[in-house]
Order: sequence, then C-alpha cells, then structure tokens
Amino acid sequence: MANDILQINDLHKSFEGYVVISGISLSVRDGELSAIIGPNGAGKTTLFNLITGYHLPSGGSIVFQGKEIAGMQPFDIVRFGIARAFQRTNIFPRLTVLDNIVATNITHQKRNLKMFAPLKKMKSMYDKAYEVLESVGLKEMALQTSGTLAHGNQKRLDIAVALALEPKLLLLDEPTAGMSPEERWQIVELIQKLWKELNITMVFIEHDMDVVFKIAEKVRVLSYGVMLAEGTPEEISKNKKVIEAYLGEEI
Ligand SMILES: Nc1ncnc2c1ncn2[C@@H]1O[C@H](COP(=O)(O)OP(=O)(O)OP(=O)(O)O)[C@@H](O)[C@H]1O
Ligand SMILES: [Mg+2]
Repeated sequence: MANDILQINDLHKSFEGYVVISGISLSVRDGELSAIIGPNGAGKTTLFNLITGYHLPSGGSIVFQGKEIAGMQPFDIVRFGIARAFQRTNIFPRLTVLDNIVATNITHQKRNLKMFAPLKKMKSMYDKAYEVLESVGLKEMALQTSGTLAHGNQKRLDIAVALALEPKLLLLDEPTAGMSPEERWQIVELIQKLWKELNITMVFIEHDMDVVFKIAEKVRVLSYGVMLAEGTPEEISKNKKVIEAYLGEEI
C-alpha cells in the first residue's frame, strides 16, 4: 500500500540447506512502532540481517519506499534510510561516547578526518553528535570512554549510533536485553520518546511481553522461520496459535 514504508514478500533464507526463514511476507506502515516476538532461534535477528543487507536472501523481495533492496550492500541500505541497533552492542569501546557518534557521522557522510577538514564542518559534526547524545540522555557522558559505560548506557549509545545515520526506519534488536527492570523501563520510555519526537518508523525485537504490549501498536510473531500471527497486542494475546507456540505460557 502507498503508506507502507517496507514490504517484504515471500522471503527465504537458508544457510547451507538449513532453512531459517521460510516464506515471510509482511508490510510495515510508515510511522508505525511495532514489535517482533518469537522463541529463541525463530529467525528474528536473521530477518533484520536480511533487511539490512548483512545476509543475502535465498529468495523473495524486500521493498523499501518503493525500491527493491534485497541483495544490496549494507552501506547502500543505510543510505536509503534503514539503520539498526544490535542484539550485542556494536560500539568502539576505546573511543569516547562522542567520538563513536562522530566516527559514524564521518563514515555516513563519506568524509575522512583530514588534517585540514574545514573547521566549520567539523564543528557542525560535533554539534550534531551532541544533539544525538542529548536525545538518548548521554550528553553528560560524552567524553567518557565507551567501554566503561554501564550496560544500559552502552545500549543507549548503540541506539544513538543508529540515530546518527538519520534513518527513516530504525530496527532495534532486543534493546532491553540483559537489563535490570529499572534500566529496562528507562529504555522503553526512551524508545517511545524517540519515536514520537523523530517521527520515524521503528521495529523492535523483544522477549519481554510487558514491554511489547505496553508500546507496540502492532505485534508480529515469528516461529521456526514463518510468520505465525500479526495483529494488535490484544489480538496477539488471544491468538490460539501464538499461545500454543509459547506452550501455554501466559502472554
Ligand atoms: N550465519 C549463520 N549461519 C548458520 N546458521 C545461522 C546463521 N545465523 C543464524 N543461524 C541460525 O538461524 C536460526 C535463527 O537464528 P536467529 O539469530 O535469527 O534467531 P533469533 O530469533 O534472533 O533468536 P534469539 O531470540 O535467540 O536471538 C538459528 O538456528 C541460528 O543458529
Ligand atoms: Mg536474535
């Protein structure tokens, strides 16, 4: 449909004959905040890897804003406007928080840190980096070495790195993994705040059902590489197939 930002059709992925994604089709509405849930090994991260060009699909199509992106290189896909934060954080631990963002800006804008880079340009890059850090609540820690940040703040930085790429679609792979309950709710609030402020489309993978049902407008359930169900949190929590897949666990 015209207001879908992403359309996936009959997507397949096998690793040397081992089928991981088996004919997934889905459409993400522009501006939507949605979740993907599913048991371990369901293929959730692989789906993100296919959308972002980290893996080549074995078949099917991925259309982003009307363009076929299946099979493109990750850096081209980033340039079209898709960024992601990783299940395991993807930061440079020896760089400062600020320099992690600046390094991303530089690569994104294809500028090298030349000795004689115009000062004005460098300044605007640092200004932008501070803005992004402020939006995720890390401005005060800008000059700290990233590797020394608490786990929750490393996750925030990972989100900031993705935001520095100015995405239209942001994919978050388990943004609350390994967090204390307090940290978890702070990140949930952050995700909601960013979604509202930046007016972007977000898809997040999440195991915590409380988180999913609190913020997702739409939930998609993956199981063994197929889409088991999709709907509003309420519809999903009553869906028989979903309840069976979770072996009667309370959803
Ligand atoms: N590069 C790869 N080579 C071979 N097998 C892979 C590769 N990447 C993923 N797999 C397999 O694909 C399946 C799905 O993995 P994936 O990481 O997508 O699951 P997931 O749903 O994200 O699980 P989790 O909730 O544990 O993060 C797993 O069985 C995994 O071992
Ligand atoms: Mg995963």
